Amino acid sequence: MPNDLHPAWLSCLPAPVPAELTTPAEVAVFELRQAGIDVEVREQPALSREAWSLQGNILHGGHAGVLYGAYELIRAKELNRPVPGGLCKPYYDARMIDCWDNMDGTVERGYAGRSLWFEGNRFSYDPARIRQLGRMLASVGLNVLCINNVNVHQPAQELIDGLLPETAAFAALLRPFGVRLMLSVDFSQPMQHGIPTADPLDPRVQAWWAERAKAIWEQIPDFYGFLVKADSEHRPGPFTYGRSHAEGANMLARAVAPYKGFVVWRAFVYNCQQDWRDHSVDRPCAACDTYLPLDGQFDLNVILQVKNGPYDFQIREPISPTLLALHKTCTAVEFQLAQEYTGHQIDLCALAPVFHEFFEDIHPSGIVAIAAVSNLGRDWNWFGHPFAAANLFCFGRIAWNPREDPVTCIREWARLSYPDAAEALTGILSRSRAVYELYTGTLGQCWMVNPHEHYGPNPGGYEFDRWGTYHRASRDAVGIDRTAAGTGYVSQYPPELQARYGDPGTCPDELLLFFHRLRYDFVMRDGRTLIQRIYDDHFAGAEEAEKMAEVLKALPLPEPDRTEALKRMDLQVANAREWRDVINTFFHRLSGVDDAHGRTIYD
Ligand code: GCU
Repeated sequence: MPNDLHPAWLSCLPAPVPAELTTPAEVAVFELRQAGIDVEVREQPALSREAWSLQGNILHGGHAGVLYGAYELIRAKELNRPVPGGLCKPYYDARMIDCWDNMDGTVERGYAGRSLWFEGNRFSYDPARIRQLGRMLASVGLNVLCINNVNVHQPAQELIDGLLPETAAFAALLRPFGVRLMLSVDFSQPMQHGIPTADPLDPRVQAWWAERAKAIWEQIPDFYGFLVKADSEHRPGPFTYGRSHAEGANMLARAVAPYKGFVVWRAFVYNCQQDWRDHSVDRPCAACDTYLPLDGQFDLNVILQVKNGPYDFQIREPISPTLLALHKTCTAVEFQLAQEYTGHQIDLCALAPVFHEFFEDIHPSGIVAIAAVSNLGRDWNWFGHPFAAANLFCFGRIAWNPREDPVTCIREWARLSYPDAAEALTGILSRSRAVYELYTGTLGQCWMVNPHEHYGPNPGGYEFDRWGTYHRASRDAVGIDRTAAGTGYVSQYPPELQARYGDPGTCPDELLLFFHRLRYDFVMRDGRTLIQRIYDDHFAGAEEAEKMAEVLKALPLPEPDRTEALKRMDLQVANAREWRDVINTFFHRLSGVDDAHGRTIYD
């Protein structure tokens, strides 16, 4: 299989970007020329770095803005639509892709093959393919790439130390595309250098990080900063020294401040050693409980990165209340393009509706940056499933403009990638998240998945484990009561959302069992009982997956994409049936209630 293909959405630019081009303006000129667009490119230092505008025949733009403008012009030409008028600029300054790549070449939660740049505990890559990556990212406006896993294992610590020259060489490949490098760092790293502590208030620790920051920015002048997973799932952090996360993050922030660098501090902090018997601890409360008392204590160059929902990238979660509660802290929202809980890039699950729903519940200005866990890998088509490319594409478009319509984004991707099948594909993909939700985790039920690998059904898999992920299904009822009478989680929301979520009469069906514990005979708004709705949804989801497979088979798709997509679709149909039968049987055995329509449930 060729391993240097463009993602299909860039197939109108067949020539690779030459290595000798070193600035976004040079790349812009090259791309416009090969797309046959006769426009003059004029870099305007007075414009903000990423803004652009088309005036007559001249593309004006800031340093990277000219390149974003060029790609927009190319898209407009391909899609036969007008170029936006006026000054165009991104909503967020930082639009980040976080790669969970390990230096041994594996990718944590990676479903598209091995790492694109690490192998055998060192850098190992084809520079041409990294330039292609830069081009892909720039073409949808993404501008920060974190290349190593948030779980930092040796020798990844060397990326800011012994391997710094190699790290700098890698960063240089992305620079012509306006993409800045970020690295995940290990909070305890000074301890590998003869310092007996990583206490953020210890001057030796502060001096060590300051010296490292100086060395990094000397070699990578546009380095973005550090991404940190601290005191989370056994990673080291300030708690060990009795220090707060503000003290920990600010220590790093002060080391990078002279270079205008950032510290992106992840808020994925919860008790991962919970006793399932203990109903007083409710994991979704954890982030708000930890960070609300620290609101206002973080330095301005700390960005607290919070997952979009309070759990962990489930197919449906309410917006994280932490993002709504913090008013004096810079925050970023983190999505997951890697389909850890959403089908492993085998099942179709276009995530644009997830991004869109998120921004319905929050004013986009409440946060300052946007990030997503990467779905990229060394597979010939970069994404495992050729259609998983739509998730990176749509993420970029929505990160640029959070008000972008999700179906429009999917349609743009489909028209650019597979023009002969675009409308049917748009239909399938726009429904795919809803379908996946129906056969897996309908009504806000989470965690009925096979533990660890997170593909396929297993309703008991996490029920008696330590991760705080329970549905507590019994003979009579299912779900967690998160109202004031229950765990109280709902009180972390602003009043309007408290009211909406706190009452089963107004809580959206999709989140009902996330917020409420309900009896199987609870009557839903549509008149069906809860148990009947569970059965119906799982039957409907599996049936829709089968229909999607039929539509897909008839589509005029190019090879090898077609064969790959059909192979994965077969696996999806099998997965959907398995989910339907396991979940329906699970609830039938517990409740003893038969399906009103007499369909097959295996006992
Ligand atoms: C999930 C995922 C882990 C990952 C973690 C994180 O728990 O399963 O692989 O390390 O999220 O976001 O840090």
